Amino acid sequence: MTDGFTRREIVSASALALTGANLLTAPSQASAEPVAAGRSRERLEQWRFHLGHAANAERDFGFGRDQRTFAKAGWGTADAALPKFNDSGWAEVQVPHDWAVALPFAPPATPPPKDRADSMAAHGFKAIGRDFPQNSIGWYRTPIGITSADRGRRLWLEFDGVFRDAIIFVNGYIVARNESGYTPFRVGIDDFLDYDGGPNVIAVRADATLGEGWFYEGAGIYRRVDLVRANALHIPQWGTFVRTDVQPDGALVQVATDVLNSGDAPVSATLRQSLISSDGLVAAMLPDVALNLAAGEQRTVEQQELLLAPRLWSLEERNLYTLRSEIHSAERRVDQVDTRFGIRTIAFDANRGFYLNGRPVKLLGTANHHDHAGVGTGIPDALHRWRVAQLKEMGSNAWRSAHNPPASALLDACDEMGMLMIVEQRINSSDEEAQSELDRIVRRDRNHPSVILWSLGNEEPHQASERGARINAELKAHVHRLDPTRPTTFAMDQGWDNGVGRVVDVLGFNYRTDKIEGYHQRHPEQPVIGTETGSTVATRGEYANDPARHVMRAYDTEHPWWATTAEEWWTIVADRSYIAGGFVWTGFDYRGEPTPYAEFPSISSQFGILDTCGFPKDNYYYYHAWWRPDQPLVHLLPHWTWPGREGQSIEVWAHGNTDEVELRLDGHSLGRKAMPRNRHLEWRVPYAPGRLEAIGYNRGRIVARDTRVTAGPAHSVSLVADRRIAKAGEVVMLNAAVLDARGRPVPTAVNLLSFAASGGTIVGVGNGNPNSIEPDVASERRAFNGLAQAIMRVGSSAGPVSVSVGSAGLNGSRVRVIALP
Ligand code: GAL
Repeated sequence: MTDGFTRREIVSASALALTGANLLTAPSQASAEPVAAGRSRERLEQWRFHLGHAANAERDFGFGRDQRTFAKAGWGTADAALPKFNDSGWAEVQVPHDWAVALPFAPPATPPPKDRADSMAAHGFKAIGRDFPQNSIGWYRTPIGITSADRGRRLWLEFDGVFRDAIIFVNGYIVARNESGYTPFRVGIDDFLDYDGGPNVIAVRADATLGEGWFYEGAGIYRRVDLVRANALHIPQWGTFVRTDVQPDGALVQVATDVLNSGDAPVSATLRQSLISSDGLVAAMLPDVALNLAAGEQRTVEQQELLLAPRLWSLEERNLYTLRSEIHSAERRVDQVDTRFGIRTIAFDANRGFYLNGRPVKLLGTANHHDHAGVGTGIPDALHRWRVAQLKEMGSNAWRSAHNPPASALLDACDEMGMLMIVEQRINSSDEEAQSELDRIVRRDRNHPSVILWSLGNEEPHQASERGARINAELKAHVHRLDPTRPTTFAMDQGWDNGVGRVVDVLGFNYRTDKIEGYHQRHPEQPVIGTETGSTVATRGEYANDPARHVMRAYDTEHPWWATTAEEWWTIVADRSYIAGGFVWTGFDYRGEPTPYAEFPSISSQFGILDTCGFPKDNYYYYHAWWRPDQPLVHLLPHWTWPGREGQSIEVWAHGNTDEVELRLDGHSLGRKAMPRNRHLEWRVPYAPGRLEAIGYNRGRIVARDTRVTAGPAHSVSLVADRRIAKAGEVVMLNAAVLDARGRPVPTAVNLLSFAASGGTIVGVGNGNPNSIEPDVASERRAFNGLAQAIMRVGSSAGPVSVSVGSAGLNGSRVRVIALP
């Protein structure tokens, strides 16, 4: 392994540094917003953190000490909320942050009460929830810099998601409460600030005692937070909506922009908007709009512009435009908001499936929760991108954010990388809170070209009833008022002919893929998708079910009774054009809801095509083969290191998409077979150490190969970074593999690996083992079946970063990364 840079890397790194460009992480929608006269946006990443206590006010910094908790606007109700509070003993954390991932595991008492065991299992046996009041409250504090120049401006915080039941304090006052653990919210703070040099402190108390899901949910400020400063005359949060209509002579861009005069005097203003293409050129100037706004008045300005020769957003070409909205008043530009959007058409056809820009596109999807090894739900932006990249590489083009709205950073990645998205509401109810959540989700996300469907719910108890129909008819109307451009869906696991099934635009089938045909015949007018399809349970690198070790064989054979294998669902959907596509449950293994082994120490589900680190299981190559048929591929399983099993018959499979596959052991052919479309091949091979090879032929020519070679003892450990140039402060993904003396992977290695970084910090580790209770927030981790992963945050200043991996008795290795400003 070399840790040196190629000349090309060095040249391109210096070119990037010189131009100040950041080609690695395109700016997110929010951070793309420049500091303009009157407005700035600052991401609040550095916080101090301490656990509170759900059952002891003294250990909860006085919160709830007496019955006056919410009296006097909450002022003084918690010591930790006051600016003068000394938080120097609190941990320094970086948001996104999930405190639950760092908690110990709690094996349930034996025998556990059934219901209690379930709730513990849901969160992957982390010591959080009702039984652990000492771990279930999290306090955060951060100072913000306020000067007299801010007086008279509007200042607000934008939280993208806090788990959960958050109370936001400004200088000791309670200024907001937000129940939902998944919905973004805005908090106005300007009334509570000290503009005369005094300290200004934001405090957040999050209460994760109760849950909203049956899967791991994390805890704390696990998504971005921004402080926005704006003129009293401004465009409010999510105050722009861009719709596009592609016509023969161009794209009609329809813009609705809210302008708010939150000041106490009338103002005259001009709204000036332009459309900027992805190369930074102004594609169109919209006519100026003169406004006279009374004090407190908000107006929505609607404009439209025909854009000639628009560059469409597609999966291959992610052309993104920016709507630049400026407000001018008294000869000054007082506000500017940039809204990114894409021009594309989408349509669901009941007979022909999904269309993007008039062309049929099968939705090759995965459903995913939002946690990753090492960091839990506190996923940094670069990791969102990395996760999208793993699925794209497999050929997936669609993601269902189950069962809650995604992080903004994930949507930005989907827009930039070309991944379609189903945004799902967490609470399927028409009560005021749920409607408010839906409202915020749609307003936040409706400008993202990647979003193609709003999912109203998943397997709700009322799904097949008249009540379900009433609730969802209301939600659907609400969504369509806010966004007439996208259909609604709902993931049903039964009763499709009734209830919600009669209401939503696109019907979602969870499992039971074989029932879609009959449904389509009964309801030929309604488009259908598989919202949860195949659900093979498999442990990466394991090839026999072993209930004692809680592992599942990684052949595509094992699944819960309600689901099917990959091959079973895909062979149904692939050939039916009326099924718009399907979403595998799941892309990645997720923490919690351990299945099929529900008992400790199983802490994760095993449904994933990739494990909790994003290491591919064998099924990854099944999908890769058939979702990217243009790329010839063969993949062999299992590994070929079975000491003690000499002479025993081993089940050998090949995934692949070539016309034929030949299997060879040490050069001797074991037969050549035609690969059936959308299926796999099998052999039985008596084990002998050596080299097992699969050779893929198209029209008689070799076009792909894969080999498994019997490995010797572990000798070294290799390290690969997902990229060699990163922006200061970003995370880099590091994959470690245990190798033998000849550099061959040791597929069963469990060596303890240690990671160390200079110029960066190891923020978390993992190995994809669904039964590992080693700590995530650590710098060492045992390999699991030869692999482990570390997530490194590069330092906040530019320069070289060096990261190494080592293990007792093995040769280590080192990788260097350049951090750019
Ligand atoms: C589905 C459900 C998912 C997950 C899955 C496990 O019914 O929608 O959230 O629980 O089952 O198989």
